[in-house]
Amino acid sequence: MRRESEKEDNMQPIAVGADEAGAPLKEHLAKYLQEHGYEVTDYGNGTEQDYPDVASRVAEAVSNREHDRALLVCGTGLGMAITANKIPGVRAVTAHDSYSAERARKSNDAQVLAMGSRVIAPEAAEKVLDHWLESEFQGGGSTEKVEKIKEIDAEFRGERSESI
Ligand code: RB5
Repeated sequence: MRRESEKEDNMQPIAVGADEAGAPLKEHLAKYLQEHGYEVTDYGNGTEQDYPDVASRVAEAVSNREHDRALLVCGTGLGMAITANKIPGVRAVTAHDSYSAERARKSNDAQVLAMGSRVIAPEAAEKVLDHWLESEFQGGGSTEKVEKIKEIDAEFRGERSESI
């Protein structure tokens, strides 16, 4: 994580949200982000809400460009990412290692990171989050691939009504 003084000049906003299983890790990471100068918009701890409710609300805000980045925490980080990826324009990943978190930004331009409180310890999650936050989309050869994701998103948007 960058030093406090650097952060103050460049306070970055981030949305966070959790279901009940993810709440303790989300609380830990929200505090960590605030301590490092991030402007945190907290969508809550999923009290009386399941992961699809929280993930869809946060991902909708990303899709509407209210937030550039969001962190979602549930038990595994899986249901949050699956749900967030249903929202048009949103690229969400589950990552519990630094390399994947970094590539999720550099290669995939993922705006949403999902983690599982039952998978990773809080201090290890901080490091994964750091790598994701400090990485930017690299463009170049990755641009064409991300554009293809966007085309697939647009092609299938609203076309399938039956569930599988
Ligand atoms: C909680 O019920 C658990 O299923 C949820 O937090 C998450 O792990 C789902 O993917």
